[in-house]
Amino acid sequence: MDDRILIRSYQPEDADATIEIFLRAVREVSSRDYSPAQIEAWAKVEDRSLWAERRISRSAWIAEIDGEPVGFSDLTGDGCLDMMFVHPEFQGRGVASRLLSRVELEALRLGFKRIHTEASRTARPFFERKGFRVIARQTVEKRGQSLENFRMEKLYAE
Ligand SMILES: CC(C)(COP(=O)(O)OP(=O)(O)OC[C@H]1O[C@@H](n2cnc3c(N)ncnc32)[C@H](O)[C@@H]1OP(=O)(O)O)[C@@H](O)C(=O)NCCC(=O)NCCS
Repeated sequence: MDDRILIRSYQPEDADATIEIFLRAVREVSSRDYSPAQIEAWAKVEDRSLWAERRISRSAWIAEIDGEPVGFSDLTGDGCLDMMFVHPEFQGRGVASRLLSRVELEALRLGFKRIHTEASRTARPFFERKGFRVIARQTVEKRGQSLENFRMEKLYAE
């Protein structure tokens, strides 16, 4: 684990950095697990203001290394971890682990008994490693392409 990783709350000014991380993570990392046409359909942010609105509509966190955003995640009011993306150059250093710990702390604070997510093929092993289990395999439509992902959940004891 890289001890330079700092987790802080998402700020509205982080919108562009999160778009960049999202696009690069999908194009350069998830491209291992999906076809070029699927990646092309997924890696698009057509409406930046809608993206920015979504990010501030829930609790969200930024992972920084040396002051640079390198990953982000979030938790909606109904216990959905919607986003978990790490910059390609900072993969495998524990960034997602630190983000997930922060998400879980928030879930605990709110008294949630469960966190759920829709994990890509790429993220499924990460979530499994962290105690999530697959509830269902599903196919989602993105701009005319069908992409497989996994509904997953982690339960927390009373
Ligand atoms: C999945 C993702 C978020 C993981 O981020 P990361 O910062 O590299 O993860 P970490 O370094 O914290 O890894 C934590 C553990 O999960 C394991 N892990 C992470 N990704 C893995 C993978 N693809 N396959 C197998 N194990 C994986 C790591 O080996 C590590 O195990 P350890 O605890 O034994 O050391 C990152 O690869 C990513 O951004 N992927 C592309 C975007 C994506 O698909 N996001 C999810 C959308 S639903």
